[in-house]
Amino acid sequence: MIQATGLTHYYGPFPAIQDVTFDVRKGEILGFLGPNGAGKTTTMRILTGYMPPTRGTVTLGGYDVVEKSLEARRRIGYLPETVPLYTEMSVTDYLKYMGTLRGMPPRAIKARIDDVVGVCRLEDYRKTIIGKLSKGFRQRVGIAQAIMHEPEVLVLDEPTIGIDPIQVVETRRLIEELGKSQTVVLSSHILPEVSMICERVLIINEGRIVAEDTPKNLAEGLEGIERLEIEIGGPVTEVLPALRRIKGVSRVAHRSLPQKELYTVHVDPSVESGTDIRDEISKAVISSGWSLLSLQTVGMSLEEIFLKLTTHEDL
Ligand SMILES: Nc1ncnc2c1ncn2[C@@H]1O[C@H](COP(=O)(O)OP(=O)(O)O)[C@@H](O)[C@H]1O
Ligand SMILES: [Mg+2]
Repeated sequence: MIQATGLTHYYGPFPAIQDVTFDVRKGEILGFLGPNGAGKTTTMRILTGYMPPTRGTVTLGGYDVVEKSLEARRRIGYLPETVPLYTEMSVTDYLKYMGTLRGMPPRAIKARIDDVVGVCRLEDYRKTIIGKLSKGFRQRVGIAQAIMHEPEVLVLDEPTIGIDPIQVVETRRLIEELGKSQTVVLSSHILPEVSMICERVLIINEGRIVAEDTPKNLAEGLEGIERLEIEIGGPVTEVLPALRRIKGVSRVAHRSLPQKELYTVHVDPSVESGTDIRDEISKAVISSGWSLLSLQTVGMSLEEIFLKLTTHEDL
């Protein structure tokens, strides 16, 4: 459906993305996951033909988005990072306006507004002035305008950013619903969001694609890479080496807080699955006569995941 090849984009001398190549299959929901500044918005703008890349090509349904931009754009719906909504217009007027801009005949526009208002659950807000809507509802209007002309592909740039938690849930549900009948490309800096919605995930970091997989495989590959936060009552000079001796412990950091000795234990990801390192640690602590005051598993943060994916094993 979409084929992006060797996309590179410079803002001045600065390369925002480099050699980004991927395809989007018909009917799939593809997630573009990356931290802020990774190059997601740049890629989305290029995909949708809003900005030509410095190098590389994108074809959509066989049409080059730069050379055949009209044909390509007709097939694409785009929710930009910040939607240029006309805040003084009512929802219906805005959708009518967007339909006209895209060359839809007036009759088709009228019928289609009824459809998209239903799909995006905006029935009660047809006459509401956009400026009076909450951020979450505005985002729905943004999605409604993106699907007005019944595009084959929907490109959504961080669709849930800055909206309240209830609206986030609603918006994700809406995207999943749309994904049943459409090809969707979605960008996000939130790993669980992408895992929830997408069938396939591309991870982009510092302008390059660093991983591509199903959410399930990504999660499995990252499993076991976690750390333990442990509070132990005992002499630091003895506890530290004891923790370091435990099989499967790759690194231990120590912090002294008022009346508290905290240890952060990093677990070696290659440790045999099935052995629970927490068991080993509590046995070691107790057999030495110290007290185990708390033990918590801390999952990896998104930053750590990116670090893991972008750091070579031999470093
Ligand atoms: N208009 C611009 N001019 C200069 N630099 C930009 C511009 N837009 C984005 N950048 C830079 O390009 C990089 C990628 O940005 P962007 O594509 O917006 O990433 P993301 O959407 O993943 O946060 C960032 O380092 C950003 O500062
Ligand atoms: Mg962005």
